[in-house]
Amino acid sequence: MAKQYDVAVIGAGAAGMMCAAVAAQRGKRVVLIDHAEKLAEKIRISGGGRCNFTNVNTAPANFLSENPHFCKSALSRYTAQDFVALVKKHRIGYHEKHRGQLFCNDSAEQIIQMLKAECADGDVTWRMPTKVVSIDKTDDGFMVLTDTGDIVADSVVIATGGLSIPKIGATDFGYRIAEQFGLKMVDPRPGLVPLTFDGPTWEAFVPLAGIALEVEVETGSNKGKGNKRGFFKEDLLFTHRGLSGPAILQISSYWQPGTPIIINLLPEMDVAEVLIEGKGTLKKQLGNVLSQWLPARLAEGLLAANGLAPDARLADMPDAKLRKLGDAVNRWAIVPTGSEGYRKAEVTLGGIDTRELSQQTMMATKVPGLYFIGEAVDVTGWLGGYNFQWAWSSGYVAGQSV
Ligand code: FDA
Repeated sequence: MAKQYDVAVIGAGAAGMMCAAVAAQRGKRVVLIDHAEKLAEKIRISGGGRCNFTNVNTAPANFLSENPHFCKSALSRYTAQDFVALVKKHRIGYHEKHRGQLFCNDSAEQIIQMLKAECADGDVTWRMPTKVVSIDKTDDGFMVLTDTGDIVADSVVIATGGLSIPKIGATDFGYRIAEQFGLKMVDPRPGLVPLTFDGPTWEAFVPLAGIALEVEVETGSNKGKGNKRGFFKEDLLFTHRGLSGPAILQISSYWQPGTPIIINLLPEMDVAEVLIEGKGTLKKQLGNVLSQWLPARLAEGLLAANGLAPDARLADMPDAKLRKLGDAVNRWAIVPTGSEGYRKAEVTLGGIDTRELSQQTMMATKVPGLYFIGEAVDVTGWLGGYNFQWAWSSGYVAGQSV
């Protein structure tokens, strides 16, 4: 005999636990299903083990989507401040690290325990580890077949996340269910991911692995629909295979394959102007001049990439060459070969097309009773606690509606 519930939530990650707790505390009979052995691994490893659980400055502008307005309703109904109130209620110590990012003082495990306790408050039934075999619409709800017994539910909430980090259980389950019910998708791709480079133009930069500096980085343009242009001022890190660090993770979500990213390695200075004006007064050799402002190995790499010797004399350089060098520092345009992919990506861009969902409830307008929340949906936040806030907000509004 199939077990009867009001709501079956599939995926006990950030969004799924929030949704299950909210629905159950409204008196709904909720079953929460996950295929993983270990609960909420992504929360556990997040924020370097301390979970950057929200950002106090969360606004719709911090999210990418083909429909940038979609996230507004959920974000305004369950705000960063609402989540902070929950964290305080559970007496979890936290601190602000950088630009509104809130982290646990001790451990991400506290956020998992908090969500578990909220689920227990509403008597959520757990099914974990459990594999979902199929979901079918019936006359008055859904039939969910699983390897631990069948479930009949009035509503089904898909909270199975995106494709990032398959090693800890990410699957395309949500996308397959969307396809089964005829819902459109925005093609998924890795976001918040290191970018890779190769070829002769990159050779000069390979030895720079480990160098970090604050830069401005941009890509794209605002032509067309959605938010296409990204601009960030953050730290950049040279790696063995390319570029990483917060600046690159942020810009990777806006980057389109085949197009350049443009990096300003010295945002506070117009390098061409200073070099041309300083011909008579600055130190004599180009390498020495540049390494006053940039890490010495980076200065050498830039000169090599531009065919200039570090001991070339500044006074002898034609202005045109100095302008070119200035551009190489202030507008370094490079085309990534690719990215480190889902293996390293913190999030998955794209997902269930928001035009298929109600922005008030996250329910599929064509399939009453079927909801999609969290990262499975085409709403992706910047680095800095925004992705968890989306999981909490979308989970909350669905939990209020089921
Ligand atoms: P989430 O991935 O949390 O949960 C999905 C659940 O569904 C999992 O428990 C999975 O096992 C389950 N599942 C998948 N397929 C299934 C199937 N077929 N059957 C049953 N269950 C299935 N964000 C942020 O705001 N601050 C941060 O500090 C970080 N840090 C961070 C670090 C790293 C290394 C990563 C990879 C990601 C982050 N993120 C982050 C992003 C954040 O973790 C992510 O956006 C949210 O966890 C998304 O929440 P969801 O609930 O949508 O998916």
